[in-house]
Amino acid sequence: IFVRTPIIAGNWKMNMNPSETAEFVKAVKDNLPSADSVESVIAAPAVDLPALLENAKGSELKVAAENCYFEDKGAFTGETSPKVLKDMGVDYVIIGHSERRDYFHETDEDINKKAHAIFQNGLLPIICCGESLETREAGEAEEWVSRQVKAALKGLSANQVGQLVIAYEPIWAIGTGKTASADQAEEICAVIRKTVASLYDQTVADKVRIQYGGSVKPANVKELMAKEDIDGGLVGGASLVPESFLQLVHFK
Ligand code: G3P
Repeated sequence: IFVRTPIIAGNWKMNMNPSETAEFVKAVKDNLPSADSVESVIAAPAVDLPALLENAKGSELKVAAENCYFEDKGAFTGETSPKVLKDMGVDYVIIGHSERRDYFHETDEDINKKAHAIFQNGLLPIICCGESLETREAGEAEEWVSRQVKAALKGLSANQVGQLVIAYEPIWAIGTGKTASADQAEEICAVIRKTVASLYDQTVADKVRIQYGGSVKPANVKELMAKEDIDGGLVGGASLVPESFLQLVHFK
């Protein structure tokens, strides 16, 4: 049996500045679990990454960008390339967050191109998916998420897929205080794993780490993490405070 290392990632969104970033890392860096027992990751805006990387040096903290473009270089005003992120020392890149899909019109095709570019540069993607309340109420959540996953993984090799992270974030549970129940979250995470198995094989599916995101907090992390197909959390609000981030990564 393949043992998946749990991965708890804070997604700070657009909430922190470089000096707050430095303070946060100083407060948590010496109290993190070893990365082979639980991976601790912070995803920060591009402008905070230098402060994050510098202060996290030599610690167990891994660093993620919240987005990137799919070209390495060129006339793309305002964008950040995966090549630059790699050069800085970043580990992961979140792609396809529902906020980026909704507010910045990121398409399935963009997300797929980004996934390829991220691998080409030696980084790993955290690919987000998730349905709206409307889609859930129409009974189409499974189909929706499975379609998003298929589109995001198009053309990736089995070896690549075995290394990546998929985050299931039902849009109705993000920042609303409304967590999907552990059973609801597990149900879709299991569908995601089955989708990967159908595209590749069970060995690849067993390797993929699947996070749940949407109002994860110290009070519910344990119950979510106990589920078979939930290997981690992608956490917004509750990742902004050092004490609460530490409680999350120490969920065991
Ligand atoms: O990516 C994390 C996220 O969208 C969940 O946010 O604030 O509900 O934990 P939050």
